[in-house]
Amino acid sequence: MCEKRVLFVVLILTVAFENYTAALLAPDFIHPCNNTDSSCLIQATQDAIPEFSKGLPRLGVPPLDPFMIDELPIQLPGVKVTFLEGKVTGLRKCQVLNVEAYLEKNVFILEIRCNITIKGKYTAVGRLLLFPINGEGDSKIKIVNSIIKLNIKTKYFKDAEGRDHFGIKNYKYTFDYGDRVHYTINNLFKGNPELSNTVLQFLNENWRVVTEEFGQPVVEYAMNVTIETAKKFFNAVPYAELLHVPIPKY
Ligand SMILES: *[C@@H]1O[C@H](CO)[C@@H](O)[C@H](O)[C@H]1NC(C)=O
Ligand SMILES: *[C@@H]1O[C@H](CO)[C@@H](O)[C@H](O)[C@H]1NC(C)=O
Ligand SMILES: *[C@@H]1O[C@H](CO)[C@@H](O)[C@H](O)[C@H]1NC(C)=O
Repeated sequence: MCEKRVLFVVLILTVAFENYTAALLAPDFIHPCNNTDSSCLIQATQDAIPEFSKGLPRLGVPPLDPFMIDELPIQLPGVKVTFLEGKVTGLRKCQVLNVEAYLEKNVFILEIRCNITIKGKYTAVGRLLLFPINGEGDSKIKIVNSIIKLNIKTKYFKDAEGRDHFGIKNYKYTFDYGDRVHYTINNLFKGNPELSNTVLQFLNENWRVVTEEFGQPVVEYAMNVTIETAKKFFNAVPYAELLHVPIPKY
């Protein structure tokens, strides 16, 4: 009898505790806005980025700064480049330029300015500017003041407990490479440091053309990782903890 009672109390406490933690799913760096004014949304997003980028293991949200690119093949005209063990850093310092949310229309717009560094190993096989290339080594790409504009089509859904959540239906983006992209790539042409340096210099002098060609797959990969991470966050944290504005009927 007594044991049963203890068990009962433990059960109650467990349930109470679970409800208690459930009420605090959103980390304390989330400062929900009471309206959808851009100024508030910009501030709230800016407040969240540095901590959000570190990842939220408790909620199953992986880090975005740094995030890893295990292997990314890029087919360029004539050259096959493969990125390996890539580490992308800088997202935690992104500056929020604009945020707009249209809850009824399911539109969310985000514009940020970021300095991004991608460091890793690479292989490059093929022909580059008339020369046969068979490079392998370390590479670093620094992107200064890139501007990313995201236009997200959102949706709403209920979780198993009946709580409303934001969802991401699909998205479009533009990525402006910004002021400058610096390439540091060693050993482009195995055993020929002079040619390697000359070609690297060429790549840097023509960074805009080079990046447009070569950056697309990297950016696409990074955007996908970012969106997948945001989806995990929205799946974990209910709408009511993110925005203190009544959710539209859906
Ligand atoms: C929203 O309103 C609450 C209660 O009035 C207030 O404490 C909170 O600071 C407001 N949030 C923002 C982001 O202004
Ligand atoms: C990016 O780096 C440049 C040059 O170091 C700096 O002037 C700029 O403020 C940085 N931008 C951001 C968004 O951190
Ligand atoms: C985006 O990421 C998801 C999950 O990480 C993966 O399944 C999907 O294939 C990726 N899509 C693209 C286009 O890279």
